[in-house]
Amino acid sequence: MCGIVGYIGKKQAAPIVLEGLSKLEYRGYDSAGIAVYDGEKIVTKKAAGRLAVLENLTHSGENMPGFSGIGHTRWATHGAPSDLNAHPHTNKEGTIVVVHNGIIENYMSLKTKLTDKGYSFASETDTEVLAQLLDYYYSGNPLQAITKVLHRVEGSYALGIMFADHPDELYAARKESPLIVGHSDEGCFIASDVPAILKYTRSVYYLDNQEIAMLKADQVSFFTVDEESIEKKPVTIDWDANAAEKAGYEFFMLKEIYEEPKTVTDTISPRIRDGKIEIEGLGLTDEELKAISRIHIVACGSAYHTGVTAKYVIEGMLRIPVEVDVASEFRYRDPILSKNDLVIVVSQSGETADTLEAVRESKAKGLKVLAIVNVVGSSIAREADSVFYTWAGPEISVATTKAYSAQLAAFYLLAMKLGRVRGVIDDKRYSELMDYLCALPDQIELLLGQKEKIQHFANRYVAAKDVFFIGRGIDYAIGLEGSLKLKEISYIHSEAYAAGELKHGTISLIEPGTLVVAVATQPELFAKTLSNIKEVKARGAFVMAVAERGRKEIEKEADYVLYIPHTDPFFANSLAIIPLQLFAYYVSVGKGYDVDHPRNLAKSVTVE
Ligand code: M6R
Repeated sequence: MCGIVGYIGKKQAAPIVLEGLSKLEYRGYDSAGIAVYDGEKIVTKKAAGRLAVLENLTHSGENMPGFSGIGHTRWATHGAPSDLNAHPHTNKEGTIVVVHNGIIENYMSLKTKLTDKGYSFASETDTEVLAQLLDYYYSGNPLQAITKVLHRVEGSYALGIMFADHPDELYAARKESPLIVGHSDEGCFIASDVPAILKYTRSVYYLDNQEIAMLKADQVSFFTVDEESIEKKPVTIDWDANAAEKAGYEFFMLKEIYEEPKTVTDTISPRIRDGKIEIEGLGLTDEELKAISRIHIVACGSAYHTGVTAKYVIEGMLRIPVEVDVASEFRYRDPILSKNDLVIVVSQSGETADTLEAVRESKAKGLKVLAIVNVVGSSIAREADSVFYTWAGPEISVATTKAYSAQLAAFYLLAMKLGRVRGVIDDKRYSELMDYLCALPDQIELLLGQKEKIQHFANRYVAAKDVFFIGRGIDYAIGLEGSLKLKEISYIHSEAYAAGELKHGTISLIEPGTLVVAVATQPELFAKTLSNIKEVKARGAFVMAVAERGRKEIEKEADYVLYIPHTDPFFANSLAIIPLQLFAYYVSVGKGYDVDHPRNLAKSVTVE
């Protein structure tokens, strides 16, 4: 959701900024812009549409010479996607230039006050208010003007700021919206996410709320909102730079699906030592793990779906009650939390605004929060009491795949660890579960071998209008994710239903030819789901089933069956989701869509 890149140093800024923005395209945006100091003045260019439009306009940055610049990809919140509303925004003279992620909540009252003082506005954005307010407070000292503005604004921001009369400096500030500062021999950088600058540096500083950075070509200094100087330590990013490249795949999504065996291995293997699960950084003693009386899992989107799965796993395996909430509901429903409850939040980006707020809400109520997070150093990782990193590497495609699989694996490890500590899993069962767990990466690899079969089937459904996913228990959770994958990248209406619930209304939507994807991996529920398949078949549905190898009887009812290898039923999601991810992917490809950048969506949702 919106991307920021800035550079000041020995090299030409525009190509670095544009390339950095291209690495943030996955975040979702609808216009882009760039500002560069050309030796005399700041030149700004911006355009609605894809980054390619801006690249054409600037000849890939060649016609914007200069050694410092800031750029932005905008995901519209205030005002339509247009050239005018695109960032950067400037004061009237174009001498103060701002790019902004986040939302300035009191922008209307600030705008009114500025208008009364004679300021006029060219755009509908909240960001332009920042540029004009900086102008209002500016009297030659950029830091002073910035701090004055930050004291006046309410809401969230990540900012990149340039002042024409301080051309050797570039400023950054943040509150709630993520922003990092990078440092290398070639210069200094700002970025809203690591992939934008990974090619140039691995040494980054994470700005905390209401911190300001002043970048020069060869140094960075940090300040509080009260202009006090602060020391910050850089963090070394150990991501492989190639991990953020397509490596010959047509889309990142396919590449990331193919990375799933490795991702699951990377999440699991380092946590198994001598056949025992050890989770470093869990932040909970065995005594605390034993004392847990209820678990609350809070997340959004696909991460929420891993939580739904975890509910079935943890309750089924350990008999600990689990509540699962979407974060946007949790934060406003004044949840009843008790002393021995544990809150687990799940997030790939670690920046999802609602999930971050759930962390704060839970901590304010005195509870410990464990975060299952992918992005190291992200806001959620820093604010939670402890972090279980999924180590899935950078995930670029908006539709999550490998991070989802890593989150599932994290929950399995956690459940088994809890079961061991609490004495509810005996040695035999533990080693049986361990074998199934460790077999998952190879089994996922096997499933990837079915790619062509799934592609062939997907091609038949590119024109589908409605698709229903049904399943019971964990199979229902699998359906939730299969359905979300399909709708987010193929724009086909799709719903997931607990298989037994369909006949309470939704079955009226089944028409001859409607595709129903029936997930039937759970042995205890298999016969029941089979009956539900019969019900939709009787109404003319075409049924594609996902079942465990050997369950031949399903072929009598379903029209098409995809088999997954045998695993423990608790772990079935990790296998069954693979064909469903591939199915969604190939439907989207078949429709000719930009799979990695689905319309209206952003990779990290930093507004509520
Ligand atoms: O970064 P997060 O895991 O917190 O993101 C949560 C959701 O926004 C995310 O899972 C979203 O639903 C994806 N587009 C699903 O593919």
